Amino acid sequence: MNQNSLHQLLGKTKFNNLDKTTLNHLFELRLAANSTLIKDLYFSLYPEENYIQDFEKLLTLLPKLFKNRPGDLKKQDIERLQQGDWYQSEKIVGMQLYVDHFNKDINGLSGKLDYFENLGVNFLHLMPITTRPKVENDGGYAVNSYTEVDKKYGSKTDLQNLTQKLRDKKMFLMLDFVVNHTSDEFSWAKKAQKGDIAYQNYYYTYPNRDIPDAFERSMPEVFPTSSPGNFTYNHEMQKWVMTVFNSYQWDLNYRNPEVFYEMLTNLIKLADLGVDVIRFDALAFLWKKIGTNSQNLPEAHALISLFRMCLQVLAPGVILLAEAIVSPYEIIKYFGEKQLKGNECEVAYNATLMALLWDAIATTKTQLLYRSLQHLPKKPKSATWINYIRCHDDIGLGFDDQEIYNLGLDAQQHRLFLLNYYTQKLNWSQARGEMFMYNPKTGDGRITGSAASLLGLEAALDKNKPGDIYSAIKKIKMMHSIILAYGGIPLIYAGDEIGTLNDYSYKNDASKKQDSRWVNRPQQNWDVIADLGKKESAESQIFYAIKNLISIRKNNSVFADHNNIKLHKNGNPHLLIFERFSEKKRILVVCNFDAYPQNIAHYWLENIGFSICENSKELITNTSLGLKNNTLEIEALGTYWFVNE
Ligand code: GLC
Repeated sequence: MNQNSLHQLLGKTKFNNLDKTTLNHLFELRLAANSTLIKDLYFSLYPEENYIQDFEKLLTLLPKLFKNRPGDLKKQDIERLQQGDWYQSEKIVGMQLYVDHFNKDINGLSGKLDYFENLGVNFLHLMPITTRPKVENDGGYAVNSYTEVDKKYGSKTDLQNLTQKLRDKKMFLMLDFVVNHTSDEFSWAKKAQKGDIAYQNYYYTYPNRDIPDAFERSMPEVFPTSSPGNFTYNHEMQKWVMTVFNSYQWDLNYRNPEVFYEMLTNLIKLADLGVDVIRFDALAFLWKKIGTNSQNLPEAHALISLFRMCLQVLAPGVILLAEAIVSPYEIIKYFGEKQLKGNECEVAYNATLMALLWDAIATTKTQLLYRSLQHLPKKPKSATWINYIRCHDDIGLGFDDQEIYNLGLDAQQHRLFLLNYYTQKLNWSQARGEMFMYNPKTGDGRITGSAASLLGLEAALDKNKPGDIYSAIKKIKMMHSIILAYGGIPLIYAGDEIGTLNDYSYKNDASKKQDSRWVNRPQQNWDVIADLGKKESAESQIFYAIKNLISIRKNNSVFADHNNIKLHKNGNPHLLIFERFSEKKRILVVCNFDAYPQNIAHYWLENIGFSICENSKELITNTSLGLKNNTLEIEALGTYWFVNE
């Protein structure tokens, strides 16, 4: 049993009145229930012999932070505990967006909530909206503050009004907590630059290259093209500072417990604004150690769990999303393992599925996808995925090399093929993507581009080829049907619901042109949206297809995530088949990644206990799909949700 389930048990009594005394009592209970774990985690990072007094500081900080949490949010926390694992519901469908690119600012976004309601979206991930350096700021991931809203987006009051409005509409909000680094303009960094040693110790700062060089020997580069190396020399401070991402993003030094207290306070302040899910940005990098790659270290896991256990005491209705775009076996660990099982993040990006789907599109085959997914350990029952095909970042090809070799392929050649396929190096490929951070030293590269452009819509429209347009739309529908059916929260990237193409304008902006991720950060096209349904455009077809998928998902509780998913291997290399099941219902998802129709034999379906007959229903088309000559024909690039009740 994880700590959250324990709190669910402790809070099970239906209180007639969640008054202040009851809420305080429940807080005390949670603190008591978590305190041993909090203590153990704390002393595993900050040894008891040196830090006993600092621990007392934490114990006095927690009640102070709880006192400041708004009363209505405290009540909501208890209601959520009583509801159980609310984030696993089939009713949640998300969208990720840049506030300024969507509809100017926070108030502009507030005015468009009916757009989400119409589509069926009720969970929003807003990209960073806090203050940041004026020119280069990594799309807001270089933060000048954790809670002050940048004027460009509006005010804190606008944000609070938005969160209230979302709560009234039972919509959820996810915001980022850039937990690994601040900008070089953050108040702590400024004090450090002025020579304040206490604040220099908030970061990894060194007077000479000795320690930086020792780190560099085993640390990979995240942005090798635009920001090579992991340290930057600051002339004002006359010291080297660790900057794993961009030179203006300073890594926080969690070996210093002061940093932990300050960041915990910032985290709670963010939760107190009415945020439901907090995206822990770049959390794999939280602990650095010479001689390691300084990613996914056990201390990073302990630190995340420590944040989690404190957040759970203070705001048990708020959950954490792990943004760990790392290898498949490492991602799963962010749900917590061994004694931390279920005690780290409740949600993680399913980056493995995402990358494998792009592999299946390029190769038209699902073998690597099956092999990789089948060998992954099961996630804890209390956890769930964010399933997505595109986001604001690149697509990394983080598959397990061994799985590629097991298919009889050369891992390096296979990756090169994928890079070439997506970055316009093969003239037969319809994909229009761009290369991101190609590292000639290692041959590694990543891919950027919008879903529609990567799936061939841009090329097809340019060439005005109706057959190709049709195929691209089918691929877009298929990819969305998978993230909407797979267990977890589907997160649609704003613009993908109307097939938005690449935006090349970033190439004319000096602060962005080094970073090809901007090709997939387009403006929401409200002119296109105004015309939806008026003509048979590609955009209309995509929008209504996705809207239909969302509504079917929400009406079938079998899509709620209880680890109730089973992959079925059919031997046909082009098909992806998986089942979602409950006691009463089973839905079989069948996707064909090939440009030619494929067949499934009747007896194979019978073998997996699925009897498709003339009256069997296919949910997406809402028609009966029969068999021809004892075989089920699966259209080229077709997607089906068969139901067996
Ligand atoms: C995360 C963000 C990415 C950013 C990085 C550094 O990976 O998704 O956009 O560049 O963190 O903050």
